[in-house]
Amino acid sequence: MTTRRMMVEVLNGATIFPPPIWMMRQAGRYLPEYRAMRQEAGSFLDLCYNPDFAVEVTLQPIRRFGFDASILFSDILVVPHALGRDLRFEEGRGPLMTPMALEDIDRLDPSGFHEHLAPVYETVSRLRSALPSETTLIGFCGAPWTLATYMIAGHGTPDQAPARLFSHRHPEAFSRLLALLADHSAEYLCRQIEAGADVVQIFDSWAGVLDEISFERWCVEPVARIVRQIRLRHPNVPIIGFPKGAGSLYSTYRERTGVTGLGLDWSVPLSQAVDLQRDGAVQGNLDPMRLVAGGAALQEGVSLILDRLRHGPHVFNLGHGITPQTPIEHVQAMVDQVRSGRGS
Ligand code: CP3
Repeated sequence: MTTRRMMVEVLNGATIFPPPIWMMRQAGRYLPEYRAMRQEAGSFLDLCYNPDFAVEVTLQPIRRFGFDASILFSDILVVPHALGRDLRFEEGRGPLMTPMALEDIDRLDPSGFHEHLAPVYETVSRLRSALPSETTLIGFCGAPWTLATYMIAGHGTPDQAPARLFSHRHPEAFSRLLALLADHSAEYLCRQIEAGADVVQIFDSWAGVLDEISFERWCVEPVARIVRQIRLRHPNVPIIGFPKGAGSLYSTYRERTGVTGLGLDWSVPLSQAVDLQRDGAVQGNLDPMRLVAGGAALQEGVSLILDRLRHGPHVFNLGHGITPQTPIEHVQAMVDQVRSGRGS
């Protein structure tokens, strides 16, 4: 018997109402059970690399809210970590790495890549057995450009000036870096699929800071390279691209990368989202601050999205990750409203 996984059907072009729902960063600090588990595990990376912990925190939001999809608990930066770059997370500061110099690019060491990531594959495989059969399991990676922004600067920055500058000064070396990241990310996603992921999502959180030429070179081309490699091995697995901040370039992005679905950030107008639905599924795009605010602001945001996107393939989500200060009751209210299909 085949199980219906609603989110997979929508990504393959079905219009389903009420739409399937999940949230980016759905396992995270807004949940008391996550904070407790994090305390027990020690560091954030210990949580990511220990399948017992990672499986447990992935399941927490599914148990509480019954989301239609579950996303593997890990981080995009485990890929540069597996290529030999150092990585740590400091409370309140986010990720910290040693900034990369030009000569470091050809010194990346992929020899232990899959061994390093074996706990992630183990987590995916255990999750597929532990999840309800109708729940879609999403694997993910960071897009090469977004990974490179952290690798070059060594930490998050407001506009990724260090990576932009590096890319303009050293385009050949930067291109080698992104190609290497793309090839390893493609293999990483294939292994997640082989371990049980139904769908994969490529997070390009910093796509929005690039000029037009750079968007093509550093965002579109590397993601197209990943998509081509996945399709060779897994032609039927839906791939979601999330080029946050891509604005008017969203449609070019889908066309040129070949991704199945588009993750939309909250700044994308719903009229544009409706246009994008003509070529395939869209996912999004509630402003996470409406979820923090709750009440009328939340209801209005959810209603508009449901009303406008219900005539085409749509996966309900936030326009970016849920933030730690979000009240749990607001998440429940959002889920209830989406499930009831209550628009305006
Ligand atoms: O969505 C999920 O529930 C799956 C898990 C997931 C995490 N990070 C867990 C996490 C996913 C898909 C990511 C992706 C990720 N990580 C991105 C792309 C998406 C985005 O949010 O833009 C980026 C840029 C990162 C890098 C990263 N990891 C940053 C900048 C931070 C610090 C910011 C913060 O919220 O603290 C992290 C840490 C991180 N990744 C946490 C979680 C739950 C918080 C760590 C903690 O528990 O202390």
